[in-house]
Amino acid sequence: MINRLGFNNEGHEAAEKRLAARKGRAGIVGVNIGANKDSADRVSDYERGVVRFAPFATYLTVNISSPNTPGLRNMQARQQLGELLSRVMAARTAASAQPPIFLKIAPDLVEAELEDIAAEVTDKAIDGVIVSNTTIARPGLRSAAVAGETGGLSGKPLFERSTIVLAKMRKLLGPDRAIIGVGGVDSAETALEKVRAGADLVQLYTGMIYAGPSLPGRILSGMIGFADMQRLKSLRELRDTSLDQWASKPL
Ligand SMILES: Cc1cc2nc3c(=O)[nH]c(=O)nc-3n(C[C@H](O)[C@H](O)[C@H](O)COP(=O)(O)O)c2cc1C
Repeated sequence: MINRLGFNNEGHEAAEKRLAARKGRAGIVGVNIGANKDSADRVSDYERGVVRFAPFATYLTVNISSPNTPGLRNMQARQQLGELLSRVMAARTAASAQPPIFLKIAPDLVEAELEDIAAEVTDKAIDGVIVSNTTIARPGLRSAAVAGETGGLSGKPLFERSTIVLAKMRKLLGPDRAIIGVGGVDSAETALEKVRAGADLVQLYTGMIYAGPSLPGRILSGMIGFADMQRLKSLRELRDTSLDQWASKPL
């Protein structure tokens, strides 16, 4: 899937209304926060998002990796990231609830950039990292016409690169910080591989566009079946079992 949506949405107030209406219902609610493309002070957009949505979120995501908001990914650079994360963490302290905060990164980063991000995440005590958003690269697309479409690529072609970046991030962050693996998960096997490469949790989007809303249930059944067959007490036992193999692949 290639998308170039940008953050088209009805804004904070409308989202808050919907979240307030479902409050108290079961389930994990992650709220991803972005910045307006025409904002004079993008960091303050994130601060306002944190304060407004903290009371409704099981966790918050600071998304600085969408390729569809011009310049957004520049916030991944060390100095900008340091300032953003400091102010986001201060906004959480000031908010009426303090959910965990995850930083969501792009797959199109080089080793030095990953090192900078890991250093800032550790320094600012961010709860975890989500690896990854869509890619501006076009790995494995057969049609040049399709590959030429503007936007971020997700789904199967993203699996390899996003899993390599995930494993490298796990190496840089050490064993204790939470990492959510995302990118090309469309089966129990691909979800399990994210865990083997270092993920504590797994997300998916494009897989569900193709396979429908029953996909997560099928993946969970497949994962439980695998855990039973292997006599695992927890999927945690699987974490990092292919870490070296994935982390040693070139970017
Ligand atoms: C249509 C579409 C819209 C997306 N919008 C957002 C977004 O607003 N915020 C965000 O953090 N990620 C967004 N993503 C990225 C996905 O959350 C996910 O990180 C990425 O697609 C890789 O996972 P997948 O291969 O399972 O889709 C979007 C992806 C798609 C396909």
